[in-house]
Amino acid sequence: MELLLIFFSLAFLGFFGLFIHAYDLLWLKPERLRAKLRRQGIRGPKPSFLVGNIPEMKKIKSTAVAKSPNEHDCASTIFPFFEQWREKYGRNFMFSLGNVQLLYVTDPYVAKEISLCTSLDLGKQAYQQKERGALLGQGILTSNGPLWAYQRKTIAPHLFMDKVKGMVNLMSEAARILVKSWDSKIEGMGGGGIADIRADEVLRTFSSYIISKTLFGGSYTKGTNIFLKLRALQKALSTPSLLTGVPGLRYLPTKSNREIWRLEKEIQSMILKIVKERSKDSCEKDLLQMIIEGANSGDIGADTSSEQFIVDNCKNIYLAGYETTAISALWGLMLLASHPEWQGRVRAEVFEVCGGKVCAWQLSMVTQEVLRLYPPAAFVSREALQEMKFGDIHIPKGVNVWVSVLTLHQDPEIWGPDADKFNPERFAAGLLSASKLPQAYIPFGVGPRICAGQNFALRQRSLQLRIEEQARKLEKMLNQKQKNINTQIETNNLDILLPDDPSIGLKDKSAS
Ligand code: HEM
Repeated sequence: MELLLIFFSLAFLGFFGLFIHAYDLLWLKPERLRAKLRRQGIRGPKPSFLVGNIPEMKKIKSTAVAKSPNEHDCASTIFPFFEQWREKYGRNFMFSLGNVQLLYVTDPYVAKEISLCTSLDLGKQAYQQKERGALLGQGILTSNGPLWAYQRKTIAPHLFMDKVKGMVNLMSEAARILVKSWDSKIEGMGGGGIADIRADEVLRTFSSYIISKTLFGGSYTKGTNIFLKLRALQKALSTPSLLTGVPGLRYLPTKSNREIWRLEKEIQSMILKIVKERSKDSCEKDLLQMIIEGANSGDIGADTSSEQFIVDNCKNIYLAGYETTAISALWGLMLLASHPEWQGRVRAEVFEVCGGKVCAWQLSMVTQEVLRLYPPAAFVSREALQEMKFGDIHIPKGVNVWVSVLTLHQDPEIWGPDADKFNPERFAAGLLSASKLPQAYIPFGVGPRICAGQNFALRQRSLQLRIEEQARKLEKMLNQKQKNINTQIETNNLDILLPDDPSIGLKDKSAS
C-alpha cells in the first residue's frame, strides 16, 4: 500500500513537472519576451495560448478585400494582417506564431541597423529547422555558428563571380533551348502565330534545369527528378490543416506528416545514390563535388553526419536558387510586357554594342526595379541568439525578427512619391541616387547571411536578355511570313506552384 502511494506520488510529481515545463515553454517564456518588448512601448495583437496570432491572421486574410489604390502594392494583398497591424500598432510591432515570438520591423532606421549588423548572434531562426526540417535540415540556409560558417566556406566560392562567368554558356544554352521551345509552340499553333505560354511553369523548369546542372553537373537529369520530389515535399509542408501552428504537430503520424516523411526519405536516397555513383577520384568539378569534399574533410562538427551534410545542402541550394530566380524572371517578363516603352528600350539595347560588349544598362535598371517591387523573399528573418540592440530597441534573446522587405521597398519616404510605380529610370544614376537609404534595398538579404548566389542570379540578366533578343527574332520571323504577331504570356496563374510536366519548354536532346 505504501509502495503504491509512493508510486502515485512520483507519477503525479512527474506529470506536474511536465505540465509546468510545457506551460513555461508554451506560454510563460514567450510572455516574458513580450513583456520585455512591451516595456519599450512595442505593441501588437493579443496572442492565444498554443496558436498565438495564427487564427487572427487567417481571419483577416479570409475577409480582406485587396485594396488596389496602386498596382504594385502586393504587401496589402498577400499579408493584409501585417498591414492592418502596422496601421494599428506602428512601424515595429510584435506578434506570435504558435509559441514563437516575433518582432516585425518596417522602420527604415531600425532595418538599416539590422542590415549593417555583422554579428553571428543575429542568426537563423531555430523554429525553421524544427518546423521545416524535412525540407531544409541543417543546411546553409538554416544552420548557425561554426556549422554555418563551414558550409558557407564550402559553397560560396563555387558561386563567386569568376566561377559564375564560366556558367554563362550553360545559362545561354538553357535560354536558347527555352526560346526554341516557345518558337516551336508558336509554329505548332497553326496559322495564327499566337501562343499562350504558361511562363510561370516554363521559367520554373528552366531555373531548375540551370540549378540541376550547376549542382549535379553530368548527373543533372537525376537532379531534375529530385527537384520534382522537392516540389512535392514543399507542397505537402505548406498544406494547411485545422491544427496548423500548434507546436509539436509535426511529430503526429497524420496523413500529411506520413507523406512528408516518405518524400524526405525518398529525396535523401536519391541524392545519396548520385553521390555513391561517383567514383572516389571523380574529375567532376560541380557544386556537388565541392559539397562532398567539404563533408569528407572532417570539419563538419558533431551535430551532423557527412551524409546529412551533403543531402541538406543539395536541398538548400535547390530551394534557395530555383524559385527566387524563376519568380524574378517571371515578374521581369510580366512588367516588361505591361510597359511597352521599357520593353522597347531593353530590346533596342540588345542590339547595341558598348566597348565591344553587349550593353545591358537598361536591363540592369529594369532588373533592379523588378527586385524592388517584387522581391522573391518578402522578409529577411533572424533570431536574436543573444540579447541585442538595434536603434532604441533592445531585442531579448529568443525573439525572432522579421524585416519586411516588401514594405521597405515601397516606402515613399525612401523612394519618393512614385515608390509604388514601375519606374526603372530611378536607378539611372545607381542605387545611391534612387533611394534615400540604400541599406533599405535588400532583395538579397543582409549582413553575413546575404545571398550566396547573388552573382549567379544577376548573371541571369544576360539570360533574360537573350530571351528578349530571341523573342524579337521570333517576332521578325513571323513578320516575314506576314502573320499576326503576338507572343502572349499568360499571367493569371502566378500562384500555381507545381508544373504538371517538368519537361515543358526544356527538351534538351543531349539529355535523352
Ligand atoms: C533573384 C534571385 C535570388 C534572390 C532574390 C535571392 C535572395 C536571397 C535571400 C533574401 C536570402 C536570405 C538572405 C538573408 O537572410 O539575409 C538568400 C540566401 C541564399 N541564397 Fe539566394 N537569392 C537568389 C538566387 C539564388 C541562387 C541562384 C542561389 C544559388 C545558386 C542562391 C543561393 C543562396 C544561398 C546558399 C543562401 C544562404 C546564404 C547563407 O545563409 O549563408 N540564391 N537568397
